[in-house]
Amino acid sequence: MTSILMVCLGNICRSPLAHGILESKLPQELFYVDSAGTANYHVGDSPDHRSITVAKSNGIDISKQQGRQFKISDFDTFDYIFAMDQSNYDNIIKLARNTSDIGKVKLILEVDDSVNDKRVPDPYYGDISDFEHVFSLLNSACTKLSKTLTGNSSN
Ligand code: 4NP
Repeated sequence: MTSILMVCLGNICRSPLAHGILESKLPQELFYVDSAGTANYHVGDSPDHRSITVAKSNGIDISKQQGRQFKISDFDTFDYIFAMDQSNYDNIIKLARNTSDIGKVKLILEVDDSVNDKRVPDPYYGDISDFEHVFSLLNSACTKLSKTLTGNSSN
């Protein structure tokens, strides 16, 4: 089993989308996907209704996800940890215990050579079009990531 964790700040807007999108592209018997926030503001909460709406209109149900905070043991549980932006990355790295932990953490858009700006912008104070933009960025990145993880170029 290969395990992948998507991380943003609140775990209600971006990382739930990344979680649902990547999960939809990978065989669940071989891959475990989860998400977390670096902050504890939304522990136990459902994803933001705008993330739920945008995912649903793309055939993905993220409504059952529940917010949780990133924890140090996630470095042991997960093979890959993807941050949505540099601030999330820095907050995760602050908790790393060693170079192995650090080596697991990347920006999610680093997997997508076609985008120059490696930040997935925080849509929390935006409108539905900002969530659609986030979905589009994450859908492209997760398509590429799923191909890399499965070694399947037709995926
Ligand atoms: P996320 O967006 O990190 O993509 O889940 C945010 C959600 C909530 C807050 C900030 C960002 N907040 O300040 O509550």
